[in-house]
Parts: sequence; structure tokens; C-alpha cells
Amino acid sequence: MASFVIQGGRRLAGEHHVQGAKNSALPILAATVAVRGPCIIRRCPDLLDVTATLNILEHLGCAVERNGGDVFIDSTQLTGFVIPERLMLEMRSSIVFLGPLLSAMGQAQLSTPGGCEIGERPIDIHEKAMRALGAVVTQEGGKLQCNAGRRLRGTRFALEIPSVGATENLMIAAATAEGMTTIQNAAREPEIADLGNFLNACGAAIHGAGTGTVVIEGVRRLHGAEHTVIPDRITAATFLCAAAVTGGEILLRGAKASHMSAMLNTLEQAGCRLHRTGPGEIFLQANSRLQALPALRTAPYPGFPTDAQAVFMSLAALAEGSSMITETIFEDRFHHIGELIKMGARIRVEGHTAIVEGVAGLRGCEADACDLRAGAALVVAGLAAQGETRVSNIRHIDRGCARFELELRALGADIIRN
Ligand code: EPZ
Repeated sequence: MASFVIQGGRRLAGEHHVQGAKNSALPILAATVAVRGPCIIRRCPDLLDVTATLNILEHLGCAVERNGGDVFIDSTQLTGFVIPERLMLEMRSSIVFLGPLLSAMGQAQLSTPGGCEIGERPIDIHEKAMRALGAVVTQEGGKLQCNAGRRLRGTRFALEIPSVGATENLMIAAATAEGMTTIQNAAREPEIADLGNFLNACGAAIHGAGTGTVVIEGVRRLHGAEHTVIPDRITAATFLCAAAVTGGEILLRGAKASHMSAMLNTLEQAGCRLHRTGPGEIFLQANSRLQALPALRTAPYPGFPTDAQAVFMSLAALAEGSSMITETIFEDRFHHIGELIKMGARIRVEGHTAIVEGVAGLRGCEADACDLRAGAALVVAGLAAQGETRVSNIRHIDRGCARFELELRALGADIIRN
């Protein structure tokens, strides 16, 4: 198993170009299954999850070509609607092939998806949403069989939880359903708006994507289009935290600050100096010791993102004072805490809240990346720690952070993959 080996204590300084958003690229690539014509998706990040998605597309008979960050897909000659378990288990977002397959093939056979071990992660809302559109959905022994009949029919559907994936499945399936669909309590993440923009570029009639209410007028067919994926707000924040914990400075290019308000406000609260130096640019300086985060709670967008909870806990572990970090989205997303404590962090957990007493310094150690965001958080902690930190199981990190060690080395970090 590959690891990252970090010699900590070096101040990061320099520029970082933000990668395309993993959680936008994945549903958009899946949505091309519902498009009858060639698509070019630009700024696709170089990630294991993108490769896994392209493998599924090829398995379904799509023509796929990758040229750096540009991916060419033509789903005109789809040959199948079954995604085998070995491909489904690669990641959670494989479930977002459900809507596209029902749209394109009228049926789908998937197994329950894989993904980070951060909670039970049921797919009940996805199933209810497809049934609301008229599909017959049965699940047996982890296998999902769905049949849309002649054509899905528009509906009004209120999500009990603003599920990102379920909103995406609904938008894609409803885009070619007969009649109007209204989604209430839809997820409002920027990645949802990006998917809506892609589908509309393909001829869909989607209004309000990125807000709590999405109205979709079904069209007969979707045609090919070109689309550039939005910047990844989570990896952008990860690099800001890496500079912050090392008392450094960083200029992000190709960022979208308006997608990062909750995280940028939190960094300022921690004592970082942030400047918008130009379009797509965010400059951060953190010369003095960071201040604690007294009441940080994750929430659906535009609240503080659950995907940034782990890396901000690494920052809190080194801040002056006591921080309280509450995870409200996933029931088991504190795997990084045990590893941070091994590095000398002082953290105790009460229910879904972690109380973090900041310490002046952490010490390097052997740590395990148990999921993508926890792994990235441990690397960030290792950059600030004294001595050597070895983070193992970095395949998790490679799922979501492109060229992670290369980008950090370009900022002055002493990190190698071995
Ligand atoms: C997406 O996952 C992201 N993944 C996650 O990022 C992110 O943490 C999450 O949204 C929340 O923002 C991708 O976009 C590929 P949800 P998703 O459905 O769609 C419950 C990362 O690190 N729920 O919004 O799976 C669920 O258990 C990943 O990049 C149901 O109960 O998340 C959770 O508690 C991790 N039933 C809550 O809703 C369902 O049918 C939010 O989940 C679906 C979800």
C-alpha cells in the first residue's frame, strides 16, 4: 500500500491552481449517458474516482477519450444498463448513474455503491425519487433493479434530506421525463448548479438548480455539449489550511471564492489574512498562531461543508484555545481524530461534537488515511508536525486530491510518495 512520507515543520509559500471539482465532474460525466451526442467535459481532475467513472461509461458502451483534463464522451451507442458490483463499489457517486440510465435505457441494474466509510449512506431517497417519476424499483441483496416503463413522468417531489446525490439523480432523470417536475428541499451545493448548467447546455429546461426548489420541464432528447467543470472548493480549502497551519502564505488561482464563503469566514475567524487579489484568486497569509474555532457546525450548503470538517480539525488542533466542531451530516465522520491524537492533538468526542484543545505543536507519527478527507487532513497535520509523518492507505486521498504530493512539494513541503 502506498504512503506519503512527510518531514514536517516547513513553511509553505507559493501558488496553487485549483483542480476541477470532483463532486461536479462525477455527476456530469454520469449524466452524459442521458445525452444523445458527443460531449466534451473540460477541467476533469486527475483522480481515481474520475477513472472509475470513465470505466463505468466504457462498460456501458460509451466512446470515451481522455486528453489531460479534457474528456470526450459519446453515449450514442449505449450497449447496456447493468453496472457490475466491482465497478459500483469503487465509489459512492456510482449511484448517480441511476437517473441517466433510466433516462437513456428505460432501465438500470446497479448494486449498492461503495465510497468513504463515513456512515451508513443509504440510498432510500434515490429509490423514492425514481418511484415518484414512475419507475418500478426493487432492491434485493444489495442489487437495485429499476424499470422506467415507456417513459418517466414528471412529478412533484420533496426530499426529506437535501441529498446531493438524490437531487442529481432526480434532475438528470426528470430532464427527459414527460411533463414538469418540481424538486423541493433540493440540495443547494454549487455542484448541483454546475450539473444544471451542463444539462441546460444539452437542451434541458431546468430552472433553479442550486436553489432549494428546482423546476424541470421534460424534453424529448438531450444533445451533446461542451462544459467546463467548476473549481473544487474542498481541495482549495485544503491547500489554504496547509498554508495556514505552517504559518505560510498561498495564492490560489482558478478558485471561486463565492462557493467558499463559510470556509473563508472560518479561516478569517482563525486569524488568517485573506485577500481577493484578482478574478479567481484568493491570497492567504498566516504568520501568527491560529485562533480556535469556538462553534463550528457542518451543514448543507451554504453552511460549512462536511467535506472540510476533517481538515479544519487539523487546523483547530494547532490553534490557541478550545474549538468545538460538530458534524451534522454523516454519523461516522470522525475517523481522523484517533490519528490526530496519536500526533499529540488533545481532542475528546461528545456525541457528534469534538472538543479540541489546541496545542503548540504536533509530532510526526504513523497515521492511516481511513477515508479521503480524513487522509488529506492527516497530511496537513503532518506538514505542521515536528519530525516525520507517514500517512498510509493514500489510495483514499488519490480518489479526491489530484497530484497531492506534487502540488504540496511545489509549495515547499517535504513530502514523497512511496
Ligand atoms: C455528496 O455525497 C458528496 N459526494 C460527498 O462528498 C458530500 O459529503 C455529501 O454530498 C454531502 O455534501 C459526491 O458528490 C460524489 P448526500 P452524497 O446524499 O450525495 C443521507 C467527498 O468527500 N442520505 O447529500 O452521498 C446520507 O446518509 C464526499 O467528496 C440518506 O439518508 O451525500 C447523509 O447522512 C464524501 N438517504 C446525508 O443524507 C439517501 O438516499 C447527506 O448525504 C441519500 C442520503
